Amino acid sequence: MIALTLPTRDHWRALESRSAALPDSERCSIANHWARAAQMEHASVAAFSRFSLQLLAVGAPPSLLEDAHRAALDEIKHAELCFSLATIYARRSIGPAPLPVDERALTSWDLSSVAVGTVEEGCVGETIAALEAQAAAELARDEVVRNVQLRIYEDESRHAELAWRFIRWAVQIGGAPVREAVREAFERTLARFECASALEGIHEHRLEAHGILSERRKHTLRAQIMTEVIRPALVGLLA
Ligand SMILES: [Fe+2]
Ligand SMILES: [Fe+2]
Repeated sequence: MIALTLPTRDHWRALESRSAALPDSERCSIANHWARAAQMEHASVAAFSRFSLQLLAVGAPPSLLEDAHRAALDEIKHAELCFSLATIYARRSIGPAPLPVDERALTSWDLSSVAVGTVEEGCVGETIAALEAQAAAELARDEVVRNVQLRIYEDESRHAELAWRFIRWAVQIGGAPVREAVREAFERTLARFECASALEGIHEHRLEAHGILSERRKHTLRAQIMTEVIRPALVGLLA
């Protein structure tokens, strides 16, 4: 566990004056980044609520259900932190809007489809989210942003671990058909990311000091996560 200090009112105020010194274009790019990140975190709350219902539908053990609910609370905190950062850099209040909830998202109730969704969103998505936050924290020179990224890193790591635990359980319970669906879902997702070519960033490195990864670094890091983290874990899981 990393000892984390979440920003206090004084920290936010200090960040506000530091951000006021930035050129407008840089400040706006940073604000846009955090506003987008906040919307995604906000949507993750709904994703974990859906996952909790799916866990109930497939008869998953209470420990998984408990962690899914805790994860939804983590995502609320992440959204709040990211909206605060967006607000500071934009110099105007930015918060959540009504989230479109599509009832079709609630149609996958069989074990294989729940497992496939969890491979993409959980095993891969949360692992990427965790390691990107860690990489951004390492680059960030601002203490407030670094601590936000570290908090997100810690939580997303637990969410990824929850997804892998669920898949292990699903494969155990569901046997060969679930195992095959899981393998295919991993192969599809791995292929999509491993082939991603590194994009050239122009002045994006400037944003890294503010705890935001450049697209180029993000692509390289994702390919690396697939090869060095997800693939070996998959081999272990299905061995
Ligand atoms: Fe999150
Ligand atoms: Fe998460």
